[in-house]
Parts: sequence; C-alpha cells; structure tokens
Amino acid sequence: MMNTNEGIIINNIYFNLTQLEKDCWNRLVNGAVKSKDAFHAPCVGSISNGEVSMRTMVLRKALPIEKVLRFHTDIRSRKWNELALNNSISALFYDSAARIQLRVKGKAVLHFDSAITAEAWQKTALSGRRSYLTTNSPSSFSDIPTSGLAEKVEQENFTVEESEVGQQNFGIVDVQVESIDWLWLHHAGHRRAFFDYVIGDFRWMVP
Ligand SMILES: Cc1cc2nc3c(=O)[nH]c(=O)nc-3n(C[C@H](O)[C@H](O)[C@H](O)COP(=O)(O)O)c2cc1C
Repeated sequence: MMNTNEGIIINNIYFNLTQLEKDCWNRLVNGAVKSKDAFHAPCVGSISNGEVSMRTMVLRKALPIEKVLRFHTDIRSRKWNELALNNSISALFYDSAARIQLRVKGKAVLHFDSAITAEAWQKTALSGRRSYLTTNSPSSFSDIPTSGLAEKVEQENFTVEESEVGQQNFGIVDVQVESIDWLWLHHAGHRRAFFDYVIGDFRWMVP
C-alpha cells in the first residue's frame, strides 16, 4: 500500500518534501559526475524567435547549495545566441530505472573568457576540445559530410598545446534553477512535487 504521510520511505523515495528536494539534487550531482548515469545528458530547451528549441547536452556540474546546473558549449552555436537574447532555459531529465522525471526551469547565465571558463577549459580533454575547433561555426551548412575540423585537428598527433586555440570558442551555460518539477511513476499511483526557489515554496502536486 502506498502512503503519502510525510517521512515515510517507499521504494527509497522520500515522502518528505525537504528530503525529496535533497534527493533531486543528489541525483543531479550523480548525473554530472557519472557518465553512465541516466541524468548525465538531459534535453535542454531554449526559445528561438518565439519557437521551442531543444538539444541533448552533457550535464557538467550540479551545485546543490547555489542551485546551479552547468553546461559547456561553443559560443558560436545557435543556443548560445538564443540564450543571450532570451535567458529562459529548461532541462528535462528522465531516469527510466528509477522512473523519475525532473523538469528543471531557470535562467541562463553565460560565462565566456573568464576565470570559470579558463579553469573548465584546462580540465577539458583533447577529445572534448576538438568540438570547439571547427573552422566554421556549428550549424553552418556544408556541401559535403564534414566534421568541420581541419585535417590537422583530426589527426592522432594533434596535441593539447595545439588545441588551446579552441578556448576562444568555449563557453559555459549556468542555469540558475528557479524550479524543479519532480514526477515519480508508480503503478499504484504516481507522485509529483514542485520545488519553487523563487518564492521558496515546496509543494505536492496531483500528477
Ligand atoms: C549525447 C549528446 C551530448 C551532447 N552534449 C553537448 C554539450 O554538452 N554541449 C553542446 O553544446 N552540445 C552537445 N551536444 C550536441 C547538441 O545536442 C546539438 O546538436 C548542438 O550543440 C547544436 O545545438 P544548437 O544548434 O541548439 O546550438 C550533444 C549531443 C549529444 C547527442
């Protein structure tokens, strides 16, 4: 039997809003640090000319105290320019094993050419750095199927030192989280909660 009383734990899900909110952030932190985690690559949505725009992005960091999620991207990308114009951003996570969906909404804070980006760039491996080294901007059309990389960049002997130039295209998208909509699927009745950081309110919802 399901029980909605505060403090009762069923299937390892805390039925206490404060603990549940902590559990959400634990899951987000795991998603950021574990590449095989279900929360590692959410769908991130932004608005482009009044239209919804979505893409998969790797979650690089989750900061539970600051309520921040961090993503990396090329500052020449469409999403960067979209977010500069409209900083509304949303990230959608689903863990099918745990049957938990998180819909995170917030405001994007863009970091570029700063101490934060320099530190993250230094920690970015050569394979990751290649993404920032396309000759033309991401989303540029091409007459041929292409990686967009110069031949030299694709070669095995391309060095970390040579990849440094990619830093000029490297940006960080921080999401200052304003709300988390938590949904847990269960055959005997789903459960849903809403964590609002703007007004500082945690509430249960009808799923
Ligand atoms: C598993 C996966 C992870 C991805 N991670 C990132 C990422 O961390 N940052 C990024 O900018 N694009 C990432 N992409 C590519 C984006 O989904 C997207 O195709 C690209 O960034 C262009 O998006 P835009 O035109 O909206 O800027 C990833 C794609 C996949 C399939």
